[in-house]
Amino acid sequence: MRFDVLTLFPDLFQGYLTQSLLKLAIQNKLVQINLWNIRDWAADKHHKVDDRPFGGGPGMVLMAEPLFAAVEAVQAKEAEPGQLILLTPAGERLTQPLVRELSEHKRLLLLCGRYEGFDERVRLGLKPREVSIGDFVCNGGEVAAMVVIDTVIRYVPGVLGDPESVTEESHSDPGQLEYPQYTRPRVFRDMAVPEVLLSGDHEAVARWRREQSLARSAGAGWNETKEGESHAKSIDGPR
Ligand SMILES: C[S@@+](CC[C@H](N)C(=O)[O-])C[C@H]1O[C@@H](n2cnc3c(N)ncnc32)[C@H](O)[C@@H]1O
Repeated sequence: MRFDVLTLFPDLFQGYLTQSLLKLAIQNKLVQINLWNIRDWAADKHHKVDDRPFGGGPGMVLMAEPLFAAVEAVQAKEAEPGQLILLTPAGERLTQPLVRELSEHKRLLLLCGRYEGFDERVRLGLKPREVSIGDFVCNGGEVAAMVVIDTVIRYVPGVLGDPESVTEESHSDPGQLEYPQYTRPRVFRDMAVPEVLLSGDHEAVARWRREQSLARSAGAGWNETKEGESHAKSIDGPR
């Protein structure tokens, strides 16, 4: 899968792209990420990409001209255009179903804003899909682009060691949360691993996980006994 990130700060991605799963996915040619500096499409010699808003108000607005030029030039890098995503707090909320839907594209272009955001004609003229990572305001779209990449690549075949990871996890079904997980040691600071997980009884483990997952999804609290038996306090109880 190919991602083209259009940003004023491509260097912000360096650490992120060179570590862990994403590093391997790039090395194994499962994912390709191209970083483009929007300033390279500025029309003047000072590489100006922003200007004051008409009507007054705080801050600067990203100008339509360099953004149109950048998006059109990057789209033309491949015969088939990619899905253009505009990262904006005003967009459709990123959820697991939207992540899955985005992963079905062969190519995504991620347009990162800065300052007070984009000239409205970017939205009107380029007709992007507008995506928000939540009801809060980040300083720029770069972190939001990383969130999109980080979530979408989990659906690219071969990126995760175990493909079941994406189907078992929280939100793989709407509202469903994963069961609690434990690893060694068996007892840590008086908290023991639930006996059922050590029983070797696969059916009992599966049943326990299902119950825990349902209870957690329903917002129930957890009650760890000394022996470490985790129980949902009540399916309807407070978390
Ligand atoms: C400081 S914000 C601009 C906020 C804009 N003035 C507003 O009130 O909607 C700068 C850029 O960060 C990105 N951004 C901020 N919060 C975001 C969010 N929740 N989801 C996606 N992108 C976001 C967008 O690209 C935005 O253009």
